[in-house]
Amino acid sequence: MPYRPKGLDNGLTDYGDRDFARYLRRSFAKSMGYAEKSLDKPIVGICYTESGFNNCHRHFPEMLEAVKRGITAEGALPVPFPVISLGEVFLSPTSLVYRNLMAMTVEEMIRAQPMDSVVLMGGCDKTVPALLMGAASAGKPAALVVAGPMMTGRHRGERLGACTDCRRFWADFRAGKVDGTEIAQVEGRLAVTAGTCAVMGTASTMALIAEALGMMLPGTAAIPAVHADRLRAAEETGETAARMAISGGPTPDSLITPESVENALRVLQAVSGSTNAVIHLAAIAGRMGIEIDPEHFNRLSDETPVLVDLKPVGAGYMEDFHAAGGLEGVLRGLKDRLQLGCGDVAGQTLGARLDKPLQDPIDTRVIRTVGDAISKNGGLIALHGSLAPQGAVLKRAAATPELLEHEGRAVVFSSLEDLSERIDDPDLDVAADDILVLQNAGPRSPSGMPEAGYLPIPRKLAQNGVKDMVRISDARMSGTAFGTIVLHVTPEADLGGPLALVRNGDRIRLSAAQKTVDLLVEPDELERRRAERTERPAPAERGYAKLYRDSVLPAYAGCDFDFLKG
Ligand code: FES
Repeated sequence: MPYRPKGLDNGLTDYGDRDFARYLRRSFAKSMGYAEKSLDKPIVGICYTESGFNNCHRHFPEMLEAVKRGITAEGALPVPFPVISLGEVFLSPTSLVYRNLMAMTVEEMIRAQPMDSVVLMGGCDKTVPALLMGAASAGKPAALVVAGPMMTGRHRGERLGACTDCRRFWADFRAGKVDGTEIAQVEGRLAVTAGTCAVMGTASTMALIAEALGMMLPGTAAIPAVHADRLRAAEETGETAARMAISGGPTPDSLITPESVENALRVLQAVSGSTNAVIHLAAIAGRMGIEIDPEHFNRLSDETPVLVDLKPVGAGYMEDFHAAGGLEGVLRGLKDRLQLGCGDVAGQTLGARLDKPLQDPIDTRVIRTVGDAISKNGGLIALHGSLAPQGAVLKRAAATPELLEHEGRAVVFSSLEDLSERIDDPDLDVAADDILVLQNAGPRSPSGMPEAGYLPIPRKLAQNGVKDMVRISDARMSGTAFGTIVLHVTPEADLGGPLALVRNGDRIRLSAAQKTVDLLVEPDELERRRAERTERPAPAERGYAKLYRDSVLPAYAGCDFDFLKG
C-alpha cells in the first residue's frame, strides 16, 4: 500500500477513544486559526533552536520564514516547535553536558508531536549533533539546515574570525605582546555577524559531517550565515522536508549507515576537522548501533589527504572555503575513496551527485587537489598505549611537527582548579620540553569534559617565546584551537585510569608515527599508586546532573548516555 502521511492524526493522545482524540485535537488546532484545509495537509515540524543565549542562531527568525515558505510551496503545513538550544559559551559547566539533554528533547518532541517529517534547525557546536542524535532515534524523515558560518571581522589590516584568532590574541596578551587596550578592541571584532565560528571548528566540521552523512541538502553546509544563499538553502530544505513528509522517506536509518559514517570520517580527516567531531560522530553513529573502530579510523586517516587550508590549522576562513567550492570540492577530490552508493535527503546517491558537471571550478588555493595535498595523511589519529588503554585522540595536523615524537617529564595538574592556581606560578618547576598533564577533566568529572585540553603555556615560558608543548588530558579541546595536544584519554582519571596515577617527574612518550602514548612507569609502581589512591568524593547531585554522571559513556562511545544507544 502506498505511504500516506497522517498529518494531525499522527500519535493521537490516548483517551481510549480515537475519534474523540481527533476531534479534540482539531478543535484546539483551530483555536490557532487554522482552516480545515490546512489541518488535512501533511505536517512538517520545524525543530527550532533560536535563543537569547545563542548568538550563532540570531538570524533564525529570517531562516524560519524561508523554511516555512518552502514547506508551504510543496503543499504541506509547517509547524515550528521549540527545543532547548545550546549557545556554546553561555553554558556551565560545558555545552557537552547538555548535548544529551537536548538530544532527548529533540527525540521525544519529534516522536510525541504530530508530524510526518521534520526540519532540524541548528548550527552552534553541540546543537547539530544533538539534533542528529535525537532525529536518528526518533526515526521520522528529517532534513537539517544549519546556521552557516560567521563572516570575519577586521582589526588593524587583518581579518579576524572566532575563535582561532581569539586564542592567538589571548596567548599574545598573556605573553605581554598585546596590551589591555588592544585586547579590548579585539574582543569587539572577533564575532561580528550571526552564524557559527568562522573557522574549521566544531560547528563547521559538524555541518560538513551532516552533509557527508546525507542528512542535509548537497552544497548547503558552508554557506555563510548572512548570505542570501543561506535563505535559499533554508527554503529548499523546507521543500525537501515536505516531499519527505509526503513520500515517507528517506528516514535517518537509511542515510546514517556504516558506509556514510565512513564517508563522514574521510571528510573529517580531509578538512582536518575538530577533535570534538570524533565524539559527536561516535554518538550519532551509536544511535544506529554503528561503532567507530579506532584501527579503521587510523587506516582512514593514513589513506586520506588533508585538502583544506583553513584555520585553525591553515590560513583561510569558512567564507573562503564556501567561495572555493565548499564540501563539493572536498568530495570531488576524495571521490575514488568514497562510498558512492550512500543516499541523501534529496533522494540521490553520492555517486549521482558527483557525476554531475561542476558548476564552478574549485579554487585549489583553498581546497587543494590530492596531488597537491597539504599533507598526504589525515588530520586526526587515535592513540593507544599504557597511558590510554582505551584510547585518546591527537590532531596531528594542528601539532608542532617536532613534538609529534617526544619524550618528556610530566608536570601534573590534578584538576582545573589546580591548573588555574598554579599554571602561572613563577616558582612552577616546568621547562619547555616537559609534558603538561591535566587530570580529572573527563566526561564524568564535575567539570563535564570541558574544552580545557588546550592548557595554557605557563606564563614564564610563554614570555620566553614558547608557543607549544605536549599537553595531555581527559578533557576536550575547542575545534578552533591548535597545538600538540592529546585529548579524550580513556579511561578517564575520575574512573581511576592510568592518567589518575601520573605524578610529577614521570616520563611520558608520545609517538604519532606509532600512534601511541605511554606512561614510562613500571607496572608494580603503578599498582602501588593505585592501591594508595583515594577516590575523589562524588559530588552531591540531583536531577539532570545525577542522570548525566550515572549514565555518560566514555569518549570513544561519544559520551552518549548508556540507555540512549541504538
Ligand atoms: Fe557557536 Fe562557536 S560559539 S559555533
